[in-house]
Amino acid sequence: MKTKAFFLCCLFATAVLSAQPKLNPNNIPEIVKAMSPQEKALLVVGFNSACEGYTPTLPGTGGLTHPFEKYGIPSVVMMDGPVGVRLEPDWHDGLGEAHFTTCFPTGLLTAASWDREVAFRMGHAIGEETLDMGADVILGPGMNLLRNPLNGRNFEYFSEDPVLSGSIAAAYINGVQETGAGTSAKHFAANNQETNRLDGDSRMDARTLRELYTRGFEICLRESEPWTVMASYNLLNGEYTQESYSLLTGILREEFGFRGLVVTDWTGMRNTPLQLHAGSDLFMGGMYKQTEHILSSLEDGSLQMADLDRAVTKVLELVVKSVSFRLPDFVPSLKPDLEGHAKLARETAAEGMVLLENKGVLPLRPSRVALFGVHSYDLIPGGNGAAFVSCPYVSQVNDALKEAGFTLDPQLEKLYKGYAAFIDADLTLNHKVNVHVGQPQKKELELTPRLIGEAVSSADVAVITIGRTSGEARDRVLDKEFLLQENEKSLIERVCEGFHAAGKKVVVVLNICGVVETASWKQLPDAVLCAWLPGEEGGHAIADILTGRATPSGRLPMTFPVDYFDIAGAEDFPYNFISDKANESVVHPERRGLDPKNLMYTDYTEGIYVGYRHFLTRGVEVAYPFGYGLSYTSFEYSAPVVKRQGKQVVASVKVTNVGPVAGKEAVGLYVHAPLGNFADKPERELKAFGKTRLLQPGESQVLEFSFPVQDLGSYNAACSRWETAKGKYTVYFGADCQAPAASLPFSL
Ligand code: GLC
Repeated sequence: MKTKAFFLCCLFATAVLSAQPKLNPNNIPEIVKAMSPQEKALLVVGFNSACEGYTPTLPGTGGLTHPFEKYGIPSVVMMDGPVGVRLEPDWHDGLGEAHFTTCFPTGLLTAASWDREVAFRMGHAIGEETLDMGADVILGPGMNLLRNPLNGRNFEYFSEDPVLSGSIAAAYINGVQETGAGTSAKHFAANNQETNRLDGDSRMDARTLRELYTRGFEICLRESEPWTVMASYNLLNGEYTQESYSLLTGILREEFGFRGLVVTDWTGMRNTPLQLHAGSDLFMGGMYKQTEHILSSLEDGSLQMADLDRAVTKVLELVVKSVSFRLPDFVPSLKPDLEGHAKLARETAAEGMVLLENKGVLPLRPSRVALFGVHSYDLIPGGNGAAFVSCPYVSQVNDALKEAGFTLDPQLEKLYKGYAAFIDADLTLNHKVNVHVGQPQKKELELTPRLIGEAVSSADVAVITIGRTSGEARDRVLDKEFLLQENEKSLIERVCEGFHAAGKKVVVVLNICGVVETASWKQLPDAVLCAWLPGEEGGHAIADILTGRATPSGRLPMTFPVDYFDIAGAEDFPYNFISDKANESVVHPERRGLDPKNLMYTDYTEGIYVGYRHFLTRGVEVAYPFGYGLSYTSFEYSAPVVKRQGKQVVASVKVTNVGPVAGKEAVGLYVHAPLGNFADKPERELKAFGKTRLLQPGESQVLEFSFPVQDLGSYNAACSRWETAKGKYTVYFGADCQAPAASLPFSL
């Protein structure tokens, strides 16, 4: 009898389970209908330790969505970060085997390439490694506008200009998603400082928001379809972005046409029903309290089931795109193509390095080099936080120059390598900091005159590397990080003095996370190369540029000001606030005697006048302008054409390599617009850009551009629409915003 009863129960259970609809791309509404409120409230919150069946499986940082076997819903795996899959340092799999992923160059360098192809190829490789490591979504690109050079996460982002940011982000997204992995365009929106990033209020007028801070995302969504957009931590004009219906539904979905999923940044408990109503669909990292809050809100009526069902639908639409769903038998190799991707990382790094000065010293011929600066031997490949990648190795400048046939001053090499090793040992053995979580910036050594003198006599040329790093949850400070430190400046001064007295040259390499002060010292050396945070192959890439194996073609994606306070809105940023802990949430600054300005709220008083929009329009001198960069060859522009074709503006210009070596030329298309109904407009704005292929001497290429006529307009906040003025425009061709290579009038 018991057997029969047991058999009948199994039959019933099987019948029930088989009666459950199994998820497929075409039956999502049916699944939504079949799910209980409890199941829905679990699905839209990140899978977490309070959930039944949860087992921590991530090899790095990120999050999982909640699986439901009964409906055939697997977990979707989301992992950091923008420049590579972030594994925990020294991660080993269950069999004790160590695994690594590729550390690509950071966002700034990618944007400095001004080349969508470079971003696409890097994204494609990162997409492959995302799947190799068993993840479905890479949490990148980071694409917030570079409002102020001291934002701690600028290294992750792209540019002070929304067109360059948006198009490079889109190319990266298309590259990743061509592999079958997904992306997260982040952090939407106006997350432009790390100080009090969880609760700081970014305050700006509507024109500023639309023309600058959502514009990059708008262009990105025009040119790509990221699976997800990540809603930022901060407030925008008094509302948490994650709770802002006007931002997430009004602008992002209804105006920009975003059809994917909005995932919250890794926020804790907030107003969950308000977040759901606003348009947040998935609450990451996920707390069980959020699930409970959803259920209690359904009961008390503060949450409509329709809002929850929309979010559930978005999560299921994400699930059915994922490899975890589409290829349930897929076994991640955990073995990315590290060799092939290292080669790509090296090529990518060289494409985005920007040559700032060159008084005939570069490219170098194999010779004896006196290599100064601790970061010449201990390169900073990337920044800290979500964008950190645990590199399998870092190619160092000293080794790369030796490989290229240079002889290094052995005394300096011994001194600096020993010094770097000592600092690392001190940091780790004294438990001061885990050097694996981002390469720390090391204090420059004071060198004796005798040592410098000996280097002068034993070398033909000097190379000095200056390092700067930064990371998530903390901004840089003016005096210690934007300005060069005394020992760094004295190193440059004394090496230049010694080598110049002997008729020898000096090259400075900037291994930096963002803009530093250059005006006070940039005339001292004979060359300055901005190498950014160039990834694991940075040493080789720097050597490739210094030796001419690669011709520099990078262009600045942001302005280098002469003085920090020349920046518009310089005082409207916590430029001297030392955050004593990460994720500083300065909820009661008054209790610490602090001014709430720039901590509790930040007024974007500069409005749309960020970067070159400020410097060019107001004629403020800069150290290096937006779009600036030198090459080893030179180019001429001819036959510029601009015309209207229906709703598009189409343009072209012929670029010819008239110099001695092969090279690539980045070209920006800027537009000076008539004021129309506006009281003011920037002198000119970037509307399109492109880059030639490698042109041999004498070779030409016609670059073509196309963008919507409405992009010529400005945002009229009074009537909430873009307005394009009739009248005479001027179109400029060239990357350097201050030195167009060609221009011509254009009328609307
Ligand atoms: C972080 C970052 C975000 C990252 C996420 C997951 O706080 O702001 O960029 O992707 O959490 O680590």
